[in-house]
Amino acid sequence: MLTDLSPNERAKYLCAEKATEFVESGMKVGLGTGSTAYWLIKHLGQKVRERDLKIKGVPTSKKTAELAEREGIPLITLDQAGWLDVTIDGADEISPSFNLIKGGGGAHLREKIVAMASDQMIVIADTSKKVSELGSFPLPLEVIQYGCESTKIQVIRYLVEIGYKDPRAVFRSLEGERFITDEGNLILDLHLNSISDEDNLSTDLNLIPGVVENGLFVNICKCAVLADENEQVTVELKDRDG
Ligand code: A5P
Repeated sequence: MLTDLSPNERAKYLCAEKATEFVESGMKVGLGTGSTAYWLIKHLGQKVRERDLKIKGVPTSKKTAELAEREGIPLITLDQAGWLDVTIDGADEISPSFNLIKGGGGAHLREKIVAMASDQMIVIADTSKKVSELGSFPLPLEVIQYGCESTKIQVIRYLVEIGYKDPRAVFRSLEGERFITDEGNLILDLHLNSISDEDNLSTDLNLIPGVVENGLFVNICKCAVLADENEQVTVELKDRDG
């Protein structure tokens, strides 16, 4: 199985497999979205079917819900769960202090709600996702459809006001149509190149009317399970001061 995968896919497989060690019977588990979370759900499904792991999963997207159902993981809604023991999810970028950019798959709104309703969030990724500074990956903003062009102008004006040079904001598209999230909204990808103050940026972007949620996860994740293309898997914990 492993040998059929590309080195990058193997890294995703291995970090996801390691992260299942944090999941115990009786837990309510937030299930992330994306190509790394795909492997998490496959591994958890196998443990549910073959090793009597008894968990309830809360999916962060329709795609994840479909996959988890196929894998035989019992699902509940976040409202039924109320609070979760752990959420495990991928990321597009991971800063040295474990702040994240998420939303490359367009699911960061539900992902953030689920992660913040959990005792802990564990990020799983191949080591290429680690960066010294966030922002090379475009920052996704989920915005409502009504007035979205005006929302975009306000976002750009705000970014220029706080010092970003020529920030670009592009509505995400899929097969020639605007990408629509599970919540029926649009994704505006912000090309910023580098982000120096993610805490304030995250707070301020969410204050613009029409913006539902941005893809910055600040002080949410305290544990990263990472794997590289040489199949080295590490578990890193955020320093208390980090
Ligand atoms: C989904 O919206 C995202 O937040 C993903 O978790 C993130 O894009 C990482 O995806 P991959 O594991 O596919 O790189």
